Amino acid sequence: MTTLMNTLTTTPLAPLLDRLFKEAAKATPATSPAMASLSAEERARLMRSKTDYLDFYGRLKDLPLPISRETGTLLYMLARSSRARTIVEFGTSFGISTLHLAAALRDNGGGRLITTEFEPSKVARARENLAAGGVIDLVEIRVGDALQTLSVDLPETVDLLLLDGAKALYPEVLKRVESRLRPGAFVVADNADYSPDYLAHVRAPSNGYLSTPFGGDVELSMRIG
Ligand SMILES: C[S@@+](CC[C@H](N)C(=O)[O-])C[C@H]1O[C@@H](n2cnc3c(N)ncnc32)[C@H](O)[C@@H]1O
Repeated sequence: MTTLMNTLTTTPLAPLLDRLFKEAAKATPATSPAMASLSAEERARLMRSKTDYLDFYGRLKDLPLPISRETGTLLYMLARSSRARTIVEFGTSFGISTLHLAAALRDNGGGRLITTEFEPSKVARARENLAAGGVIDLVEIRVGDALQTLSVDLPETVDLLLLDGAKALYPEVLKRVESRLRPGAFVVADNADYSPDYLAHVRAPSNGYLSTPFGGDVELSMRIG
């Protein structure tokens, strides 16, 4: 029997992720002074806004806001089972999702992960974490607004796209990557309920996806066209 490599569940990545998830659980928007002054309605409005996202995520710049542990495991599994070699990610933050995806690339034999984040302090923390996890050589962090950074120089084909930045931009970001998605490529969108336009796009059969809500907070789509 061939033993599969599993970077995700071994040192240094496994204890690093465990620590990062524990730290994230103590630093949520609910406990953040930056969010305390906003009503629930205002927060929901900002989450859906196509124009106020810089301000909103600027307030949240000290928070990791990661995917759940379950979504992290799902990302690793999807990237491995599809033998992904090229991955694009929207929303790096402290790099928790990036670590899962880069681990899958490592175990697939290598590849390229392009991720993007506009908060420089978050980029610095992500770099630190990716170095500590031993996967920084697989990752290119593009610093700036995804609407610009993902408009240029994308790989010919993309095997997996993770959408986890400003929710209202999901349709715009997908538009930039869509022509590169190979048949069978996965698109994972976290908290896509905040982007009805995105859900309408990936769920309309004529747009070339199979799509289903998954695990409560994820929309999982596969490119078929
Ligand atoms: C939910 S967090 C990402 C969490 C990360 N994927 C993880 O699981 O560790 C969203 C991040 O996207 C960044 N972001 C939001 N809109 C962006 C944009 N238009 N361009 C680049 N980064 C953006 C925010 O600053 C924030 O750090």
